[in-house]
Amino acid sequence: MSSDPRPVFAPARVVSTSPATDRIQRITLQRPPSRKAAPGTHVDVRVRTPKGEDVRSYSVVESNADGSLLTVSVMRAQASRGGSVFMHGLVEGDELACTQPLQNFELRPGAHRYVLLAGGVGITAVIEMGRVLHRLGQDYRFVYVGRSRAQMAYLDELAALHGDRLEVHADDEGSALDVEALVGGLPEQGRTEVYMCGPIRLMDAVRRSWLAHGRPVADLRYETFGSSGWFEPEAFEVEIPELGLRTVVEPDSSLLESLAAAGADMMYDCRKGECGLCEVRIGALQGRVDHRDVFLSDDEKSADATLCICVSRVAGPADGGTGRLTLTL
Ligand code: FES
Repeated sequence: MSSDPRPVFAPARVVSTSPATDRIQRITLQRPPSRKAAPGTHVDVRVRTPKGEDVRSYSVVESNADGSLLTVSVMRAQASRGGSVFMHGLVEGDELACTQPLQNFELRPGAHRYVLLAGGVGITAVIEMGRVLHRLGQDYRFVYVGRSRAQMAYLDELAALHGDRLEVHADDEGSALDVEALVGGLPEQGRTEVYMCGPIRLMDAVRRSWLAHGRPVADLRYETFGSSGWFEPEAFEVEIPELGLRTVVEPDSSLLESLAAAGADMMYDCRKGECGLCEVRIGALQGRVDHRDVFLSDDEKSADATLCICVSRVAGPADGGTGRLTLTL
């Protein structure tokens, strides 16, 4: 993945908002010109939450030529830590701060064919890729998975542009995506690249199938923010004996936030599960670690020896009870 220069926050103004579905709000921001948002770019937005100011990342679904108008779409999270509530409360004329478009999910030219795979609000990360592939006359499929058509944003626009290249899989229609058929059915000849964004279970199933079929790792590309965890967030207890600290992590709080609120001075940087700076050793565990980062390898996650406290959590034991986590510094 490539990266743009450092994020530069600038004042931005909300120029319009409208619902894309009953849980997804489309918000257009005006900020100083930079450049047109390339496919796969996102902006970082300063949001105000009950716990103070924070930063959230949102894919750019549309922009104008100089990047002064940027549209994002935000899903109201069920266990929101405040970011999506803040974004859904924005109205025309409100002011905030956001960065220029930032790239970490670049659409690479030169493949023989492409598959775009979106689950739920993950559509926001690949919708512009679809427009570009269509415009360039590339060979592509656009696979869109959701609970129901009513909850799938941009469906009409996608159908109008992509015609029969668009495949819709809606759970309530009994047409769930067969991941094995999708990956196993990809042609062996020529390079096929898959770009995906969606729930972690979907992306993990694709990744496992991809590896099982021996396909090149570099040809499977994904965006992670917006991906949920393996379990619904629930309250769990955490303690750090060396600090004499014990607290509860509520469903709407991250482990990092809860430890900071309890007085622990923890290291972190990205707070997106990417850099690994917040990785901490696990001393004892009751329950299951919900690893939500992309920093640790599969083997490291299976070992449950460490976790990234900015995004990962603990779910209670499968047979019931509250999750408990002891950290070792
Ligand atoms: S702060 Fe970067 S992975 Fe947690």
